[in-house]
Amino acid sequence: MLNMVLAETTFRDIRDYIYDNSGIYISDSKKYLIENRLSRILQEKQLQSFEDYLKLIKFSSNGNELTRLFDAVTTNETYFFREPQQLTVFAEAILSKILEQKKGIKKLKIWSAACSSGEEPYTLSMMLLEKRLLPDKFEIYASDISEGVLSSAKKAVYSSYSIRNIPEPYMKKYFSNIGQSYALSDSVKNTVKFMKVNLIENKNMASLRGMDIIFCRNVLIYFDTKAKQKVVSNLYDSLTPGGYLFIGQSESLHNVTRALRPSVINKVIMYQKV
Ligand SMILES: C[S@@+](CC[C@H](N)C(=O)[O-])C[C@H]1O[C@@H](n2cnc3c(N)ncnc32)[C@H](O)[C@@H]1O
Repeated sequence: MLNMVLAETTFRDIRDYIYDNSGIYISDSKKYLIENRLSRILQEKQLQSFEDYLKLIKFSSNGNELTRLFDAVTTNETYFFREPQQLTVFAEAILSKILEQKKGIKKLKIWSAACSSGEEPYTLSMMLLEKRLLPDKFEIYASDISEGVLSSAKKAVYSSYSIRNIPEPYMKKYFSNIGQSYALSDSVKNTVKFMKVNLIENKNMASLRGMDIIFCRNVLIYFDTKAKQKVVSNLYDSLTPGGYLFIGQSESLHNVTRALRPSVINKVIMYQKV
């Protein structure tokens, strides 16, 4: 018989373990969420208690258990053309400024950090293609901590929920129907490089240097101030001087950094490495 009750102390230990390894802070009020999501793993692995699960994640030598844990606790909500005001400012104001600096010689480098199932980087790619930028003139990197979402991102087949905000001309040009789903065309798929990156760590950041624009949206909300500071300092190091960081519209860098200079265009805040 499984003991599926998550004791307060075990909850705190699991919560601390998640925080130390990902920066994601789970408040006391979210205990039920952890209990729910992890009990599925317990069943799968035929473990007898959450205490056994804690031992397993702490002492398993390969990264598989940690990966499975991240997959279970992350919130992956996303969709194409999310926060359109921001995207308009990116395409109409920031892009031309950066391209001018590059003078057509250097490639434009964009990073969608915490990309979930790919809707954000693919939106950016379609916008660049619509601006008549040739694929050999830009590179889009996209990363997430969760392998589950990265594998969906690489497949690039989406539900009606994900595509609901895509303007009709984009749908016609870049998607085809497969039953109830929508498959993205290779012309867009091939422009995005996906990789697993934990934003709280410095590992794997070497290939993510010299970015002109970073989108790190709707992920800082899951971190406390200390973790945000670590992540934003990593993003700062990845930006090229003059480059821009966009965070989610409901997020703020208040008390997080003074190194990035905020500016506002049409009520959209962005942060520049000066
Ligand atoms: C709500 S989604 C945001 C997706 C997209 N940026 C958007 O705004 O629509 C948050 C994503 O952050 C990822 N995430 C959480 N903690 C992370 C970490 N420490 N490193 C990298 N990604 C993380 C989650 O796996 C999830 O896919």
